[in-house]
Amino acid sequence: MHRGIDHKTGVLFVCLGNICRSPMAEGAFRAAAEARGLSLLVDSAGTASYHLGQGPDARAITVARNHGVDIADQAARQIERDDFYRFTHIIAMDRANLEGLRSKAPRDGTARLAMLLDAIEGRRGEPVADPYYGDAAAFEAAWQVISRGVEAWAEKLLRESTEQSV
Ligand code: 4NP
Repeated sequence: MHRGIDHKTGVLFVCLGNICRSPMAEGAFRAAAEARGLSLLVDSAGTASYHLGQGPDARAITVARNHGVDIADQAARQIERDDFYRFTHIIAMDRANLEGLRSKAPRDGTARLAMLLDAIEGRRGEPVADPYYGDAAAFEAAWQVISRGVEAWAEKLLRESTEQSV
């Protein structure tokens, strides 16, 4: 089933390198959207250019796979000007990512900028800690918090889509 926001809503997840947190968020959100019958434009990007073209970190691929989500085919890219018009929502993992986005956003960009945990009651403004310098447990912990965040965004977008179509 496809709902009313097809082709209107686009969600871009953003972290620093686009190899750990935002690829996990993209994969988890695709699954959450599909489970709700939401057909959306979904992608991820980094504010930095260190890892352009690389696949996700092996630890991120493993933790996603452990939760039934395949993110191995993703390739890192950097946020670009067009993203601020193509996507309706650009969702940062932490405060530095959000500030990076704000500094790059064109004045007339149409995307709304937010943080991942903003959609969870009581967790507005909280960051998703960067697991890059951590161990497998840090990646599992990141997956857990990212999953909760993307589920909340999927619910919010689903509510908004049904409100618009009635
Ligand atoms: P991410 O993690 O922003 O979640 O993809 C990082 C990836 C790479 C680096 C830092 C964080 N780095 O410094 O190369």
